[in-house]
Amino acid sequence: EQIEKSGFEHFMLKEIHEQPNAISDTYRGRMLVKKGIIKMAGVDDNIERIANAKRIIIVACGTSWHAGLVAEYIFEDIARIPVEVEYASEFRYRNPVITENDVVIAISQSGETADTMAAIKLAKEKGAFTFGVCNVVGSSISRETHAGAYTHAGPEIGVASTKAFTTQITVLTLMALKLGKFKGTISNSDFQFHLQEMERIPEKVMKALKSDELIQKIAYTYKDAPNCLYLGRGYNFPVALEGALKLKEISYIHAEGYPAAEMKHGPIALIDEQMPVVVIATKKGHYEKVVSNIQEIKSRKGKIIAVVTEGDGEVRELADHVIEVPETIESLTPLLTTIPLQLLSYHIAVMLGKNVDQPRNLAKSVTVE
Ligand code: G6P
Repeated sequence: EQIEKSGFEHFMLKEIHEQPNAISDTYRGRMLVKKGIIKMAGVDDNIERIANAKRIIIVACGTSWHAGLVAEYIFEDIARIPVEVEYASEFRYRNPVITENDVVIAISQSGETADTMAAIKLAKEKGAFTFGVCNVVGSSISRETHAGAYTHAGPEIGVASTKAFTTQITVLTLMALKLGKFKGTISNSDFQFHLQEMERIPEKVMKALKSDELIQKIAYTYKDAPNCLYLGRGYNFPVALEGALKLKEISYIHAEGYPAAEMKHGPIALIDEQMPVVVIATKKGHYEKVVSNIQEIKSRKGKIIAVVTEGDGEVRELADHVIEVPETIESLTPLLTTIPLQLLSYHIAVMLGKNVDQPRNLAKSVTVE
């Protein structure tokens, strides 16, 4: 087992650090930047069917559901196809409206989650075209779906998902770009720019990983907090949800993720000098609005841990701690902002002496209902 961890203390930490490679493994061979094309067999073979979908329904559970929420922003933004993201367990039991014009995408690291599998079977019965985004090759969901794209993240052992999440977002981004190009909803220059930026992501993830020492200090400061709030907007709202889930899963600290603007409809009542609030405040995407949310937290004496774009000065003035990530286009920011949140949860859990790789009560893959 020590050899498998390649010198890292836990599988989770190893898998966090594998993300630069995992992301490039995901796009390698698919993204031909110089030629300006994306090749994905599962999409290419069914391009008309997918691009002409009246609606895309994404079904998933846990972290994969969060990747689905990020994909909702990307698909609507780039490919202009309406998207609904559903918890597989709710979708399958509520007599959903599914038609032959729908494309149902299942996102599942293991490809074995019982509810996601049942949702796909239901969608097939109703005549929808089904597409699997799985990590495990040959898994049940990858076999059950009409077509699919693997994430190629390599085995993920830690129960708390890390590299599966960022590679799911990578695959779904490629898919949205491909559909956008086919439909003409993204310009050639914008498409090309996205490919170039995607190619720079592994290096930028590596840079984001360098904040590890700073994050350890922040983790030490807040490890005994009973609660933690995570806020983000737009593409980074699902990242806030994922950050909160990571903390809950492995440190057993109660955490909630919220869209930053919704804070005033409830969570703001919880904020006092005891409450750490993690805010994703990157330059692209509602920056000024997030800054004003930060001011609201500050005036209620909440402790602010902000994830910002490199070189940011404005948030630094307000926040108790800032963690920088490199700049990129808005749709790709989740691939970077997720990294410090994974590390923060990891270090807090280690400092609290929790079983990081196998947290209590959780399973890597939930194959029963
Ligand atoms: C379990 C795991 C999570 C995972 C979820 C969905 O809850 O602990 O890490 O996100 O199942 O799993 P899947 O394999 O379908 O992505």
